[in-house]
Amino acid sequence: MGRAIIATPVPACAMTLNVAPHLLAPKAPGRPRATRRSTFYGNLRRPLYPVIKSESVDPVRNPYAPGAGQRPPELAGRDRELQQFEVVLERVARGRPERSMVLTGLRGVGKTVLLNTFKSMAMQRLWGTGKIEARPDQSIRRAVAAAMHMAIRELAPRHRAPERIEDFLGVLKAFAMRDPSAAKGTSHWSPGIDVPASRGRADSGDLEIDLTELFVDAASVATDLGVGIALFIDEMQDVQAADVSALCAACHELSQSGGPLIVVGAGLPHLPSVLSASKSYSERLFRYARIDRLDRAAADHALIAPAEREGVEFTQEALDALYTAADGYPYFVQAYGKVTWDLALGSPITADDVRLAAPEAEAELAVGFFGSRYERATPAERDYMHAMASIGDEPVATAEVAEALTRKPSSLSPARDSLIKKGLIYSAERGLIAFTVPHFGKFLRAQPV
Ligand SMILES: Nc1ncnc2c1ncn2[C@@H]1O[C@H](COP(=O)(O)OP(=O)(O)OP(=O)(O)O)[C@@H](O)[C@H]1O
Ligand SMILES: [Mg+2]
Repeated sequence: MGRAIIATPVPACAMTLNVAPHLLAPKAPGRPRATRRSTFYGNLRRPLYPVIKSESVDPVRNPYAPGAGQRPPELAGRDRELQQFEVVLERVARGRPERSMVLTGLRGVGKTVLLNTFKSMAMQRLWGTGKIEARPDQSIRRAVAAAMHMAIRELAPRHRAPERIEDFLGVLKAFAMRDPSAAKGTSHWSPGIDVPASRGRADSGDLEIDLTELFVDAASVATDLGVGIALFIDEMQDVQAADVSALCAACHELSQSGGPLIVVGAGLPHLPSVLSASKSYSERLFRYARIDRLDRAAADHALIAPAEREGVEFTQEALDALYTAADGYPYFVQAYGKVTWDLALGSPITADDVRLAAPEAEAELAVGFFGSRYERATPAERDYMHAMASIGDEPVATAEVAEALTRKPSSLSPARDSLIKKGLIYSAERGLIAFTVPHFGKFLRAQPV
């Protein structure tokens, strides 16, 4: 495709009236057919010309989506989890005993995206749904109240007995108002519910009792409609210890009564141990699904399928090079895919295009994916991580890190604990720690100490 820009003299009035120049230009016989570039406001399109190196791999149509929770153009390699969740939904709706699901995995592996997909699946079945993102410094009470409010709002228009909804909203309001931070006057959050708060239900101030009562009541509203309610909790490892315990107890109670309400979680790999430290029966409440990097076929599919929809192909060598670079990690697949597309000269995208794009993709990852996390660490925490990285990429023994830093293990506990709290490392097994961010060791080794 030619890249010539046809400069037609534009009358001054076209500029001031903001009229598309081509509409005013005389239609010269034999003038080239209007193309995508010359049909719209010429002055606006011009800055894009240097960016658009090829019509077929036009950056504007770049399908890849690196970003936190960004919906990928193709959800590759997650069929097993999707099928499992279908079964969970169906069984719960039929009142059958079923464990809920908890997704675990490293940073950028696709937990949030999968959780959002589960939410869409529940919504397709007309369930009520709500989602929260846990924060280490906050009780979940207020967030759960807002999420349950969303879930009930989804169900309300289909419910034949408005008083049942109102009763529940009264309980929900009472539950929300027991938020300790609201009581201290530090918060003016109002749940936006017009009905008066009810008394004597979900308002004891004990989160375990209140959550149980709230869940039982919500489940009974959903039962009226023959559907269920799903509460999704992202970054579940950040739920405070007391709240985890209350949440597990409420789920336990609900699983015994067979109420159609499930709590679906996602978090870092140590989430199962956080849950079992709180309640020993948590393993019987949740089915843990470890979300891992994509295998070769799935990683290729994640790249090929969206490109195909835009009429673009990859050579086999390009796919080989992309797999080597991204190592199957979904975030990296999107990041390398995006830059490679932007820099490619045309279709098919070749291994040379990937080679050209790799340094730019790495630089973007160094700033956005790794750097933003590294910045959050204090100097002592950085030393700790550098020591971990110098030992290797496998989980390392905390004693070994202390040795590398020539320090006593106990003196390093504060740095280690705050890194765990910040979600940068996790305790893989007893005495072993690892990075939550894939390839973080490699990134650190490339940094000046
Ligand atoms: N199955 C998949 N196929 C292709 N791309 C995916 C897939 N899952 C996730 N991605 C992409 O990977 C990136 C990271 O996804 P997501 O934010 O869900 O990861 P995460 O596990 O929640 O990370 P974090 O722990 O940092 O929250 C996004 O850009 C998303 O588009
Ligand atoms: Mg996430």
